[in-house]
Amino acid sequence: MPLDRLGRPLRDLRLSVIDACNFRCPYCMPAERVGDDYGLDAAGRLSFDQIETLVRGFVRVGVRKLRLTGGEPLLRKRLPELIARLAAIPGLDDLALTTNGSLLARHARALREAGLRRLTVSLDALDPDLFRRLSGGRGEVADVLAGLDAAHAAGFGAIKLNCVVQRGVNEDQVLPLVERFRAGGDVLRFIEYMDVGNCNGWSQAGVVPSQALRDRIHARWPLRALDANYRGEVASRYGFADGAGEIGFVSSISAPFCGDCHRARVSADGRLYTCLFAAEGSDLRPPLAQGEDAFAAHLAELWSRRGDRYSELRAADAPRPRRHVEMFLIGG
Ligand code: GTP
Ligand code: 5AD
Ligand code: SF4
Ligand code: SF4
Repeated sequence: MPLDRLGRPLRDLRLSVIDACNFRCPYCMPAERVGDDYGLDAAGRLSFDQIETLVRGFVRVGVRKLRLTGGEPLLRKRLPELIARLAAIPGLDDLALTTNGSLLARHARALREAGLRRLTVSLDALDPDLFRRLSGGRGEVADVLAGLDAAHAAGFGAIKLNCVVQRGVNEDQVLPLVERFRAGGDVLRFIEYMDVGNCNGWSQAGVVPSQALRDRIHARWPLRALDANYRGEVASRYGFADGAGEIGFVSSISAPFCGDCHRARVSADGRLYTCLFAAEGSDLRPPLAQGEDAFAAHLAELWSRRGDRYSELRAADAPRPRRHVEMFLIGG
């Protein structure tokens, strides 16, 4: 199995199945920058056949975990059909999907029946007005909550809930979110606001360091640190001292985790990005057209040249790419 220039294997693939989204979160796809009709046409996206060959190739070079992303992946037509094909690939141990949850109520059962194992749902606010604003005026928190209920009813166990915290924007949602979810079996994770993409006008002032959030939560519901579930886990885990539930923190700004980064990302049009902050992707369509063997060899070669560690460079204030791939093209 190939190692990159920093000795890291390739274990996880995050594959975007569509670049379109029905939300316009200002930190990802601001409405004033990305029009309503934005999105590749069907011919611009990898087909299900291409995706299956691609995933088989990635498994050959070491990938064990696949996460489907978007844009909003539930907008991709016939997604359960694709999931069933991917779930049948030998060697894949985990198949997960990240969604904004707005369409989950109507799709949860089909996703589960197709073989999807795990779900992650983004949830930045419980307050309906704030939620609406944070989705660019497109989303209703009630739909997401109904989606969570439907997913549980369909058999999804602990669902991960991702909340990106922005200073002065949704900080006041943190304790209500913890209160609502801490004893219910789902795992809420707070994510530091990151400088992804080019259009969100990010500044360090908008970041609430995980430590500050942890202190705030701990003062109300004492926390204790838990061991990582696996090497290179992105979120650090905490349990409530009173025994109810678990939460996590993703601290890419205050505590970069590039040293254990085993993740590759592929956009819906088949470009490989070896870092969330990469400027350029590498077009995988030509090698894909040569079949699984040639494709796997090509991937091994690309991975062996990888040296990305953007978040570490940011923390050290070292030179780093200024332009980044847009978050909605690679799904976070
Ligand atoms: P599990 O498989 O359940 O452990 O999921 P995960 O935490 O790896 O995936 P998820 O998509 O939920 O990741 C949470 C968030 O962490 C993402 O939405 C990103 O914002 C951020 N994130 C994930 N991977 C990386 C990474 O490689 N680098 C950086 N900087 N941030 C990441
Ligand atoms: N910083 C941190 N997380 C982000 N996400 C999107 N943009 C950002 C950002 N600038 C998160 C979404 C979702 C996941 C796909 O990535 O909220 O949970
Ligand atoms: Fe928001 Fe996710 Fe859509 Fe981006 S892809 S606009 S973060 S829902
Ligand atoms: Fe991996 Fe890039 Fe994130 Fe570092 S910044 S953890 S190299 S994706």
